[in-house]
Amino acid sequence: MVLTAQPSPIPLPRVRTLPRHVAVIMDGNGRWAESRSLSRQEGHRAGAENLRTVIERFGEHGVEILTLFAFSTENWGRPRAEVEAIMRLATRFIDRDLEALHDAGIRLQHLGDIDGVPSGLAKRIRKAVERTRDNTRMTVNLAFNYGGRADIVAAVRALIAEGATAEEITEESISAHLTTGALPDPDLLIRTGGERRISNFLVWQAAYCEYHFTATAWPDFGVPEVDAALVEFSRRRRRFGLVPEDNGAAE
Ligand code: IPE
Ligand code: IPE
Ligand code: MG
Repeated sequence: MVLTAQPSPIPLPRVRTLPRHVAVIMDGNGRWAESRSLSRQEGHRAGAENLRTVIERFGEHGVEILTLFAFSTENWGRPRAEVEAIMRLATRFIDRDLEALHDAGIRLQHLGDIDGVPSGLAKRIRKAVERTRDNTRMTVNLAFNYGGRADIVAAVRALIAEGATAEEITEESISAHLTTGALPDPDLLIRTGGERRISNFLVWQAAYCEYHFTATAWPDFGVPEVDAALVEFSRRRRRFGLVPEDNGAAE
């Protein structure tokens, strides 16, 4: 599938089993910058500039859903100037890249608490979601002001508000009321930047996904790194608690 007007010149490797849904914890911007004697803000800028390349490469492969962790509920605790820089960069990303993403058939969605996002950026996000809502080629979820535990609490509260009985609180009904709604759970979760933790990302939805941890910082995570993560995934054998099958294929 060719998603973009100008696909990467790097040939697409054949990936035997593609994940339907990939989630990415885009980490390491600050250390990327510090190792180059740049400000952390410069790291976030380089990270924001990397977004389209990575989205387009996953799209070229045919990944249906990409969920990007851009700002956590815990990230509000960072120095004010850094938080403000991230808000500005997110705003600029939408202003600059929305039309190209729309033209490429991408449906943008937001995960998390939009009410806690500064109004200028919240307006942009709502506009981007509205503008791209009928696109069908690929869904990109921007997790911005997202926290996994808060997601579960909100889902259970919504069920109670609807009058659900104890028996109606099930794994299926909780899943359906999470911010990811009807989307399938991620099959592959990538974390850049060297840490091996989930940091309150999709804690419910990631219960059975495969993990790919890489030391590469987010601004350096480009086309070859996307390809390598997908090739590695295709070699995994997912068993979901069952006995191994002998065909060696990831399901
Ligand atoms: C990820 O990079 C971006 C956000 C959390 C917003 P970091 O800013 O966490 O970079 P490191 O982990 O400090 O290198
Ligand atoms: C996770 O990165 C959040 C995002 C990438 C948006 P952090 O840098 O905030 O995570 P910790 O603090 O290392 O766990
Ligand atoms: Mg970090």
